[in-house]
Amino acid sequence: MLGWSTGMDCIEALKTRRSIRAYTGEPVAREAIEDIIDCGRLAATAVNIQPWEFVVVTETEMLRAIARATDFGRFIAQAAVCVVVLCKDTKYYLEDGCNASQNILVAARAHGLGACWVAGDKKPYAEKVRRMIGAPDGSRLISLLPIGHPAEEPRKDKRPLSDVLHWEKF
Ligand SMILES: Cc1cc2nc3c(=O)[nH]c(=O)nc-3n(C[C@H](O)[C@H](O)[C@H](O)COP(=O)(O)O)c2cc1C
Repeated sequence: MLGWSTGMDCIEALKTRRSIRAYTGEPVAREAIEDIIDCGRLAATAVNIQPWEFVVVTETEMLRAIARATDFGRFIAQAAVCVVVLCKDTKYYLEDGCNASQNILVAARAHGLGACWVAGDKKPYAEKVRRMIGAPDGSRLISLLPIGHPAEEPRKDKRPLSDVLHWEKF
């Protein structure tokens, strides 16, 4: 049905995804990016409004300019692409846009690629980045998602399941 096989199932991709901030510089296939964005557009969305738009930035100068605009996203300059996730300013724009962003991160992992969420909404640079990519007035910048072939295997401490799972009551 998906027309794209990566050999990694959904649960494995969810459990092994980590933020990747270093990339090899190898190009990323256009088909992979299209499939990843396809996963973003199919995310759960309040009242099925689907308020999102996805701008895929590949040009080196624009990647560098976006990286410079951020505070904690300088590594965007080294990524093969940066997916800019935008939403119309609907009631649930943030929840919807975050769902799409997370789908994109997990789909990138399933394709053997590395990605990292760089904050957009709430950041002082959101307006600047929106203008740089020609986003329409009133749209919200949800996230910047650099994607590339991973050049690191970071480990992260995670709270154990027994700490966070509560049956019946907190
Ligand atoms: C809303 C949000 C904003 C984030 N912003 C940044 C950021 O600006 N720069 C960055 O390097 N990582 C950013 N991250 C990634 C987090 O630092 C990362 O997800 C967290 O440390 C857990 O690590 P993991 O993704 O490897 O599990 C952000 C993540 C989220 C969900």
